[in-house]
Order: sequence, then structure tokens, then C-alpha cells
Amino acid sequence: MQNKLEEIIASIDISGPVPEEGDQRQYYYIKKMRDYTAAKSQELGRKLTACTVTFGCQMNAKDSEKLAGILEACGFDVRDEENSDFLIYNTCTVRDNADQHLYGRIGRASHYKKKNPEMKIAVCGCMMQEKTAVDKLHKSYPYVDLIFGTHNLYCFAEYIYEVYHSDKRVTELWESGDQIVEDLPTDRKFPWKSGVNIMYGCNNFCSYCIVPYVRGREKSREPIDILREIERLASDGVKEIMLLGQNVNSYGKTLEDPISFAELLEAATRIDGIERIRFMTSHPKDLSEDLIQCIKRNPKIARHIHLPLQSGSDRILKAMNRHYTKDQYLKLAGHIRQELPDAAITTDIIVGFPGETAEDVNETIDVVKKVGFDNAFTFIYSMRKGTPAARMEQVPEDVKKENFARLLTVVQDTAKKQAERFAGQTMSALIESVNEEDSSYVTGRLSNNMIVHVKGDPSLIGSFVQVRLDECHGFYYFGHIMI
Ligand code: SAH
Ligand code: SF4
Ligand code: F3S
Repeated sequence: MQNKLEEIIASIDISGPVPEEGDQRQYYYIKKMRDYTAAKSQELGRKLTACTVTFGCQMNAKDSEKLAGILEACGFDVRDEENSDFLIYNTCTVRDNADQHLYGRIGRASHYKKKNPEMKIAVCGCMMQEKTAVDKLHKSYPYVDLIFGTHNLYCFAEYIYEVYHSDKRVTELWESGDQIVEDLPTDRKFPWKSGVNIMYGCNNFCSYCIVPYVRGREKSREPIDILREIERLASDGVKEIMLLGQNVNSYGKTLEDPISFAELLEAATRIDGIERIRFMTSHPKDLSEDLIQCIKRNPKIARHIHLPLQSGSDRILKAMNRHYTKDQYLKLAGHIRQELPDAAITTDIIVGFPGETAEDVNETIDVVKKVGFDNAFTFIYSMRKGTPAARMEQVPEDVKKENFARLLTVVQDTAKKQAERFAGQTMSALIESVNEEDSSYVTGRLSNNMIVHVKGDPSLIGSFVQVRLDECHGFYYFGHIMI
């Protein structure tokens, strides 16, 4: 990968005109920046450093790997937040607490900047697609040097160059974007696993959700590009991939040569070197029988389906624009349990959607009990400006909180009971890290996404081992490696 990057950069002529668009233009600016960072490093007597701070979902994490890759290609060394010359925050705005968290962090960054006047601060990502957030940054955080959004992330190199060559704040925002520019450097966080975008944006417009507004319309990538990327990752040592999209089950429908998600997944299983494939997220309305059968016959596909329920009340589901009923969801989950008995089903639930009553929450609790979710992420509804639900009659905070607490108890009890069903089994775990509390242990992840701690040394990180699950501790296991 590194050699390929150097080859491309060597072929770029920075004495000539700036290429009009696409990746060539970005490589042009990367090369220009290299000259700048080299000169600056000499002046300071040390290398320039950079740090990416990521909020939000897996797609943002993947985007941040691209940002880090571009920074490194420009000549920065990656460092921590406090000791960086270039600090970039990749934001999320799915709930209000994500927004508040960001303001806290940028507030703190002003102190770092006082200590290091060379420091540049950039903010990008989903939150920047909202005018109110950008206005607030302009007004209350004047020391932010660069702001850009989700549609023009691939222009990052160009923007870094602008920041260092103008004395004004740079704000570059696009309302939409249909260009997919991907052949840019990327710095993967883990050598053995990687996310792979299969689509961008979302067309579902669930009435509470901001994502379609900040990420734009759904666009699938061409299967050939996705499979080539996976092949490249495999040859680079990646063993586990996660196919990413807001609604992977609708992948490929709008391509010139339509292809289903199940077909793409099947093709990915045939790539040598890839031992485990995950995917996120499945919308219940689009999950096909083909997909279930594809998982069933392919042991490489992880035994884990994340199937967001959001609510168990038909009335609320309708107001949420989810396009399924409680009964349809129960049938689908029941069918998955029957066909894939060893698979974990996990979910997302929102409490406190406008108009939700205690009775509606009882319906949700009923689904949690009947499906027996292996894990559930529960969220208190957060009003997002511009979404249809923001104009509906809101539920008082105390009612939301009470219902949330009630649901949480059931969710935790259910997940605990579910976890116990695997005790005594032997499964394959991908070792991911040294145990935080006891360094003679390492921590791995099972196909069903559960965590297991086993005695072992750090050399195991990034490899698959067979482990016996000895003791269940609610959400994780203690086990031992089978020789
Ligand atoms: N595309 C994915 C979800 C992306 S957002 C899907 O449809 O499953 C992740 C989760 O955040 C959602 O599943 C939902 O449960 C939650 N969420 C989204 N908007 C929210 C809001 N306004 N308030 C609270 N939770 C929200
Ligand atoms: Fe949001 Fe719904 Fe799209 Fe998920 S499917 S990103 S919840 S609009
Ligand atoms: Fe957040 Fe954007 Fe993901 S709003 S959840 S980072 S798509």
C-alpha cells in the first residue's frame, strides 16, 4: 500500500496546473503539503504531528481512517489530542448528547492551542451538515481553522493546504454529493480487521433520524470496487471485515446492473484470507430470505444480526416510518432463530418517541422478552431539528426517563439469560487486545460478537484461536484456549 502511494505521489507534477478534480487533485495537494511540512519541521526542529478524534458510528470510524491516512501522507506524525499540531474532530449528530460532547472537547482544545500556537483545529463530519452547528462554531469557537462536511471529505488534502496558506478560517460545505472518490491513502487502525463501505447515505427517512439529511441519498458502490478493496485488504493481512451501510439489505438495488446484498456477501466469502465477515446495519423491512440462507451455508459469515427494532408498538412504528409491524418483526426474528440458532440477534430501541405511552413501551418490552435479544442498545429519544418527529408532540423528560429505566431492566435480564446459552461450547475467537485489568489475559471476539477473556500473551492479537467458554459473566465469558 505504502509503495503504491509513493508511486502515485512520484508521478504527480506539482509544477504544472492543479488537476481539475478527483483523486489526482488531492494527490497534487498531498505532494504540495509534503514540501510544506518538511520545511516547517526543519524550522521547528521536530516533525509536525496530527490527531483525529472520532465520534459516532462505524462509518465515521472508517472516514477517520481516511483522514488519518491523508494527514500521514501529507507528512504529519500521528499523535494524541493534546500534543498535535493539527487536530481534527470527526463529528456525529445522531443525538443531542453527541453534539454536547463535541462542544466540550473543542472547548478544551482552545487550551491546547494556547500552549501551541502552531496548532490548527478542524471539525468535519455529520454535525457540520447542519447550519445551526456551523453558525455556533463560527460565533463561539473562532479558533477553529477548518470546517467541512460529509460530502467533501475526500477533499481534505486540499483543505489542509488551504488552512496553511490562508490567514482566514476555511469553511467548505456541500449540500449534497454524488461523487465517490476512494483511491486515497488510508491509515487502518487495526492490521487484522477493517470496515468496508458498501454504500453511503440513507433513503429511509425514519421520522426521528437526522442521518438521511446529513449523509445524503443512498448510493451503492459497484460490487467490483468493493471486492477489489476486500482482496487488497486480505493481501495486506486483514482477516475480518465488516461491510458497512445504514441499510445493507437494500444494497445494490439502484446500480445499473442490480445485485443483492446476499450475492455480494457470497462473493466476499470466496476471497482467500478473509476468515470472518460481519455487516451493519440490517433494516428489518428489507432483510431477505436469501440473506438468511446465505449466512446459513457460509461459516465465514458471523453469527450475528443487528436488527434495530426501535419500538414494539405498531402505532409508534408507523409514526416512526419504519414500514413493519410488531408482528412482522416477531415473525422475522423467530425465523432467524429457527434457521440460525447459534446466531446472536441484537437491536436498537428508542424510548420516548413523540406520543409514546407506557402502554407502547409495554409492547416494546413484550418484543424484547419474546425475541430474547442477545444485546440491545437503548436510547432516549432526542429531538433532531428538521426531522418530522421534531414537529410532533414531545413526551415529558420524566416520563421518558421512567420508561427507559423500566425497559433497561428487562433488556439486561434478557441479554444475561441469552448469554448463558453458550456456556461449555468451543468457538473460534479473534483475539483483539490485552485484557485491561489483567495483562496475563487477552480479549477476543466470537462470531456472535460476544467477548471472551482467556489466558494468553499479546502475540495472539490478530489471530483466531479455539476457545472453550467456561464461565458466563453476563455480557462476557471467561474461557481458555484449546490446544
Ligand atoms: N441505520 C441504522 C441506524 C443508525 S443510527 C438503522 O437504521 O438501524 C443508530 C441508532 O441510533 C438507531 O438505530 C436509533 O436507535 C438511534 N437513533 C437514531 N436517531 C435517534 C434519535 N433522534 N434519538 C434517539 N435515538 C436515535
Ligand atoms: Fe436513520 Fe432510519 Fe436511515 Fe437508520 S434507516 S440511518 S434509523 S433513517
Ligand atoms: Fe452519527 Fe453520522 Fe454515524 S450522525 S451515527 S456519525 S452517520
